[in-house]
Parts: sequence; structure tokens; C-alpha cells
Amino acid sequence: MSAIRASGKTIGVFDSGFGGLTVLRALLPRIPAAHYVYLGDTARLPYGAKSQATIARYAVESARFLEARGCEFLVIACNTATALALEDIRHAVQVPVLGVIEPGASAAHRALAPAPAGEAQGRIDVLVLATEATVQSHAYRTACNALGLHASEFACPLLVPLVEEGWIDHEVTRSVLRIYLGEALRLGSPRTVLLGCTHYPLLTPAVQEALRELGSQALVIDSAEATASAVSTALADANGPSGGPGTLGSATFECFATDSVEKFQRLGSFFLERPIREVHHLDLGG
Ligand code: DGL
Repeated sequence: MSAIRASGKTIGVFDSGFGGLTVLRALLPRIPAAHYVYLGDTARLPYGAKSQATIARYAVESARFLEARGCEFLVIACNTATALALEDIRHAVQVPVLGVIEPGASAAHRALAPAPAGEAQGRIDVLVLATEATVQSHAYRTACNALGLHASEFACPLLVPLVEEGWIDHEVTRSVLRIYLGEALRLGSPRTVLLGCTHYPLLTPAVQEALRELGSQALVIDSAEATASAVSTALADANGPSGGPGTLGSATFECFATDSVEKFQRLGSFFLERPIREVHHLDLGG
């Protein structure tokens, strides 16, 4: 992908719902000179339990909307849509499109020191936690393998509804995580745990706590941060002086949701960690 200047660019950020706001949250301080258009397809969430054909249709409709809205660069801030529909989206629009999976896999690669020779058998470099559809696609395994990493993938379907409920620091969520991670660790001892779903970065402290309780020292990797960094690189606008924490420069954003704007405003402000003053309703059909 050729590098383009981010200054004054309009960047579209798409997710099936609210989770992609964790990617927007990471983008705002990194590329403060851009205007962002965020679309959450909340009426059709969750994508993670749907078929490839349905996910591709929904994601393409959403991407076309963002392109028509003037976005010059699209970030598919949804692991499931990236895993199952990235190529469909790229064929459907004229603007550059970046997904979350390659940045996530690259971040795991960067975080890992080279594994000692002769330990390939049974080695797990990356344990990917994701939705059922993402896991079934093996998109993360493929991306990790291409970087010489051994990956195992584990579906955690209960985590999205728990996060949607706002149960971040909650005993039920901690119990569910202990059960999932306990099962996942039976596959082997991972060196990193990659949060392969846009909702999961909100659970990073709880994931770390559960891993430690289970005796794992695995490093937790957040694909939202990794994606924001990849967008920044692609736009040749790496952190400048105005990109420090709390200095958002002239970054502006507008939000669209296909379901209740009130719910998006309330829950979205929580995901974005700043108030969302206005949400526009969008009807993309069924
Ligand atoms: N945004 C989805 C993802 O990152 C999670 C929510 C859903 O299943 O639609 O995989």
C-alpha cells in the first residue's frame, strides 16, 4: 500500500458495533490531524456467529457507505469482518483498506524474541482469542504462520455480550475468563495472547489477571493499538509532537450506528473513553 499523508484526511473506521471504538480510541492521539467517520453496524451485531456470505454482504455495504461519505482510507476495525471479508471489501471500494489481523499478528511477532532452535514441536507462540467466525476462518493462524509463528486459536463467544453489558470489572467476567483461558492453556503454554476481537482490549487487565492466576507469563497483545500503529505507518504520519497523550490536535470524529443512537452514545462513550455528543442513525437494511 502506498503511503499517503494523513493530514486533513478523512478516515473511515468500521466495526460490527461498538468494539471498533477501541481502535478509534487508539487512532485519535496517533493521527490527530484527521477527521474520522465511525460506523457501527449495531443492528446486525454480532457478526462473530454469522456465515461468511452474510458477514461479507454487511461489511461491503458498510464500507461503501464510508467511501460515499468521503473517506479516503478505511480501517476495518472488526476482526470478524477482516477475517472473512477483507478481500470482498477491497474489491468493492476504490480507497485503501486496512484490517486488524495483519497488524495484530505483526505485533505478536515484534513482541517475541526468536524461539530457541529445536523447540518447534508443540510450541505455541501466539494464542489468539477471538469470535467463533474468526477462529473458524483461521485467518490469524495463516497470518501468524506467514511470520514463522505457531498459533492456536480459541473462541470466547461469551465475552462480547459481557463487554456489551459493561461488565468489565465484574466477577462473572473474571470467572468466564478463567474458564476460557484454563481450557485454552490446555492446548499448550503460549508466549503471547493476542486479543483478536475488538471488544477484548477492554478486558486486558482481567485477561492478564486470569493468566497470572493460571500460572501463565504470556504477554497480552492488543490488536487495537497494533492497528492504529499500522494505520499511522500507512499514512506516513507516525507520532508527531502533537500526538502525545491528551493532545488530540484537531482530530474530529462523527459516529453512525444502524441501531439505537442513544445506546451507541451511552455505550460508545464508554468504549471511546470520551463523550460522544452526537450519533447519526443509518439504515443499511436487513
Ligand atoms: N467486532 C467483532 C470482532 O472484532 C466482535 C463483535 C461481533 O461479533 O460482531 O470480531
